[in-house]
Amino acid sequence: MPQDISKSNEIPVFDILPRHVGFIMDGNGRWAKQRGLPRSEGHKEGAKTFRKIGEYAADIGIKYVTFYAFSTENWKRPEAEVNAIMSLFGDYLNEVIERIGENEEKGIKLKFIGDRRGISPELLNLMNYTEKLTENKNKVTLNIAVNYGGRHELTSAVKNIAEKIKNGELSPENIDENLISDYLYTSGQPDPDLIIRPSGEYRLSNFLTWQSAYSELWFSDILWPDFTTEDFNEALRAFEKRNRRFGGI
Ligand code: FPP
Repeated sequence: MPQDISKSNEIPVFDILPRHVGFIMDGNGRWAKQRGLPRSEGHKEGAKTFRKIGEYAADIGIKYVTFYAFSTENWKRPEAEVNAIMSLFGDYLNEVIERIGENEEKGIKLKFIGDRRGISPELLNLMNYTEKLTENKNKVTLNIAVNYGGRHELTSAVKNIAEKIKNGELSPENIDENLISDYLYTSGQPDPDLIIRPSGEYRLSNFLTWQSAYSELWFSDILWPDFTTEDFNEALRAFEKRNRRFGGI
């Protein structure tokens, strides 16, 4: 069969592709405000961007993508906004379940990172179910950070390690960087090579605090609902040109 050249041309080729990309999905509120809409509409549009970018990442061959969807600090937002965001998570997970046949092709393995305490039992059920449903997929691992905070993650890791030492299962000499990484939600995954934050804010906001030690950072003024695959390509092209030395020369 002749190759469908027009289709294969749609997927750009990169000389160097990050193995793991993190996204801080910021700017939904401002996007809605600019249009005189409630903030929840910005999150709704942001959820569409999340789907589009997650699938695109899988298409171009990135193996791990992490989306910062809800931080441990986001509970401070008005209840209606928190509920609207939680409801978008639920909609997405129900969609994953309904479309598992398609997901079979897409090969998306879902994983939730963050503290599961505080999440409603209904959403928690969906999270556990979709993780199980997609656990054997291997095209891309899509981490969704929900009730996630980098310092909170490290604090939990320290507590768990201390508990093991108390029980005699570990000794302080066993503690090294690999062991700490193993106690994080991202255990077994490579650290993010690239973290992308749109919306004109230049900080990491407690995202992958330990894992981002050597991440390349890419910022842009675009608000997350407006973020396109072209913007993603631009970040990837910039990444290709970066000279990562990891402390060497
Ligand atoms: C930050 O923008 C965004 C959030 C706290 C929520 C992000 C959630 C989504 C995009 C929905 C994701 C859905 C799924 C299915 C994972 P902001 O509200 O702080 O924006 P602002 O700084 O302009 O106010």
